[in-house]
Amino acid sequence: MSQQTVSPQTILMQASSNGKGTTGTIGQPITYEKIPTQIFADSKEASYAVAKEIADLIRQKQKEGKPCVLGLATGSSPKTVYAILVRMHREEGLSFKNVISFNLDEYYQMEPDSIYSYHRFMKEQLFDHVDIPKENYFLPDGTVPAALLRDYCTSYENKINAVGGLDFQLLGIGGNGHIGFNEPGSLINSHTRLITLDHSTRAAASMEFGGLHNVPRKAITLGVAPILNARRVVLLAWGERKASVIKNAVEGPVTELNPASYLQAHADVTFVVDESAASELTRIKTPWAVDSVIWDNKMIKKAVTHLSQTLKKPILKLIDKDYNDNGMSDLLAQYGACYEININVFNQLQHTITGWPGGKPNADDTHRPERAQPAKKRVLIFSPHPDDDIISMGGTFQRLVDQGHEVHVAYQTSGNIAVADDEALRFIDFVVDFNNGFDIDSPDANKLFLDAKEFLRHTKNSEIDSPEVRKVKGLIRRGEAKATCRFVGIPTSQAHFLDMPFYETGTVQKKPIGEEDIKIIENLIEEIKPHQIYAAGDFADPHGTHKVCWDAIEAALQRSKHKNFMKDCWVWLYRGAWAEWDIYEIEMAVPMSPDQVLKKRQGIFKHQSQKDGVVFQGEDSREFWQRAEERNAGTAQLYDSLGLAEYEAMEAFVRWKF
Ligand code: F6R
Repeated sequence: MSQQTVSPQTILMQASSNGKGTTGTIGQPITYEKIPTQIFADSKEASYAVAKEIADLIRQKQKEGKPCVLGLATGSSPKTVYAILVRMHREEGLSFKNVISFNLDEYYQMEPDSIYSYHRFMKEQLFDHVDIPKENYFLPDGTVPAALLRDYCTSYENKINAVGGLDFQLLGIGGNGHIGFNEPGSLINSHTRLITLDHSTRAAASMEFGGLHNVPRKAITLGVAPILNARRVVLLAWGERKASVIKNAVEGPVTELNPASYLQAHADVTFVVDESAASELTRIKTPWAVDSVIWDNKMIKKAVTHLSQTLKKPILKLIDKDYNDNGMSDLLAQYGACYEININVFNQLQHTITGWPGGKPNADDTHRPERAQPAKKRVLIFSPHPDDDIISMGGTFQRLVDQGHEVHVAYQTSGNIAVADDEALRFIDFVVDFNNGFDIDSPDANKLFLDAKEFLRHTKNSEIDSPEVRKVKGLIRRGEAKATCRFVGIPTSQAHFLDMPFYETGTVQKKPIGEEDIKIIENLIEEIKPHQIYAAGDFADPHGTHKVCWDAIEAALQRSKHKNFMKDCWVWLYRGAWAEWDIYEIEMAVPMSPDQVLKKRQGIFKHQSQKDGVVFQGEDSREFWQRAEERNAGTAQLYDSLGLAEYEAMEAFVRWKF
């Protein structure tokens, strides 16, 4: 490997030395991480630092009168970096005239103008919005005939070498450790080539492609060797889905089973991660085991629950020796004996459990998660998609209704892209037959629906649905959400369909949130004046939609927080179908009986378009009701294993404070 001289004076490394933008233990150098890793509070802050580094490099090269050769990645991870670079171009005059760029990969076979192509992605995210000359950006060509591929790949790499090699390589990381599309098994000296995609990679991409069967089996990827030859490498990872692969790449052995671990051999690499992606790193997961920590309440709760889980011992049975053997002796020294700590943590966990998510009327609420007053609360549940309310907090939703609160649900997006074509056809057929069957003469409606039917017959899966078809799909989901509301027992007048504009692109790629989106949320909050808001705090959602939906809520809350009614408003965050809060974070846990679990399942079944092979199955082959049940049962088992009461299932919440 020819490693060139490195330039350590980057923004990220400066951040590393002054500790800015990082979290973790206090002060000490972390030697067990084999790749410098910067942890940022969120992906936005992290993306800004990376964009700034790229912009500085481009400007520095401009000053030197040299081209700036960038290696670029696609996928969800670099999107904000590109958005910030575009903003810098527009607002700060950052020019890309001297940039020459090479993308890592492209699906094979893939037409450059397909909505799934990385060509199109790059144009939409970056190239079309900056002044990079058309002849300066290169992506592997997914249409090259098979017989010519080998030569083509060699020439792609030669082109990079001809312009002096990559100054900066931006990377994402696959859940299986792939960099570019160098899947596990790729060798450290591998070159640019056609590669067969892993099942897990295809499953992860199936979201964008509307089903696994549509995902190409192959791709052209830059090899590991040319990636390692870049003078500077920055790898981005966001969300807890990336946490274990990041830990293995950063702390584990160099192995072909995790190609990102090859980066341990690079002299100027930084992994830039958010807190969720960092959550499995030793310094984050068990910081007390490697360094001195500040033992605040949260840290104690985290350490004790971790100890209890590791030793498979209920909290109240932990003894001093357990603390001493597991790096927690300084905590013990502060308290004298473990019994007091055990009791303290046990009580805190105990106080999170409540069957009264809206507060228990006429009860002492000193140690309850919610206030007793007002006894009848106005509750506003935000549901990013039309089924998140019931999937993620169906048991709590039901209790709130049964306990007499005025519950409203705001369905933030139409969810129309997640309805399969044949499901739409079924409903269109029904409408046409319905009209005929009842002699309803509505030529306009019939034409609209017949056109949609025709469109679906001829559409190729790479096309965006017509507006009519999207409307039909949205109505299907709206009907399902209404059915759930009726089932739970709220009038459909309390179901608010917001159809937030950012979502309405017809593809998985959404628009950024705009003023209109925020205003819709702000108006609804103003109209209802809720005492409780529930929202999806699922920031690692593979669709990204949950995060955007939360951003809009947060922006609206920030604007409304000074209003009088907001003083009485508490905000609770739930998690979507993918993951649960960590036990030490949970502030309210609502238990469910076996019957309540069954009832929730029936509520989820109202979403028939999301059953039996959904469009956005993703990597998890379980249906949504199965994921929800297993997760809720898992939370209950966790409480049980820590020595608290044994319930059938539990839904968990974290309070968000202004
Ligand atoms: C994309 C690429 C891939 C992605 C990786 C992560 O050009 O080469 O390695 O970086 O699959 O994808 P996201 O960012 O979508 O999680």
